[in-house]
Amino acid sequence: MPNANENIFPVFHQILGREEKEAILKQRARVIWLTGLSGAGKTTLAKYIEQELFVMGYVTQILDGDNIRSGINNNLGFSDADRYENIRRIAEVSKLFVNCGIIAINCFISPTEEIRDMARKIIGQDDFIEIYVNAPLNVCEERDVKGLYSKARRGEIKEFTGITAPFETPQHIDLEIRTDLFPIEESVQKALEVILPKVRRQDKKV
Ligand code: ADX
Repeated sequence: MPNANENIFPVFHQILGREEKEAILKQRARVIWLTGLSGAGKTTLAKYIEQELFVMGYVTQILDGDNIRSGINNNLGFSDADRYENIRRIAEVSKLFVNCGIIAINCFISPTEEIRDMARKIIGQDDFIEIYVNAPLNVCEERDVKGLYSKARRGEIKEFTGITAPFETPQHIDLEIRTDLFPIEESVQKALEVILPKVRRQDKKV
């Protein structure tokens, strides 16, 4: 009788775990999840946070909607189902980063509680830091950095968040940042006050 396991060579003892990788990076891996309207300032804030963390010796990876949707998720649109699938894949990818000991900084509208709950569940509550990057719709629309709000108002973009698709106020956040009320430097400091205790190790230099 051939042994069904004869060609299987388990390598579990050789696979390095998250702990070992976090130790070498001298950090705790987490996902910093920035949710909010298009134009609220998620990506801008993420870049500042990344810069500050980098200077302190933390290894991070920014994931953001426009980049991810031009690559891994380029087959997805903005229907409810596609947004759900977008965030599901992002959450799975973020988990891989966490398993490598890396801090993911995610900038996705992630417009509904259902979608954000799903992401939190995949990533795990303990590793999930949710920040609501909030600027009122009229402010985002005035900024209209990408010209998308005016297109949406003209009916050239369907299902645009805040105009013809919903954005539900996040209910389970660790922090809210009003980008229309405070200067960016202040917002970054507020974010770091929440983030640093969760990523810092005892043996960290700073
Ligand atoms: S999410 O709703 O699925 O979380 P995601 O953050 O990936 O959205 O992508 C949002 C970005 O896609 C926006 O910042 C904007 O540049 C672009 N975009 C294009 N069409 C839409 C739309 N209908 N609604 C919202 N954002 C859109």
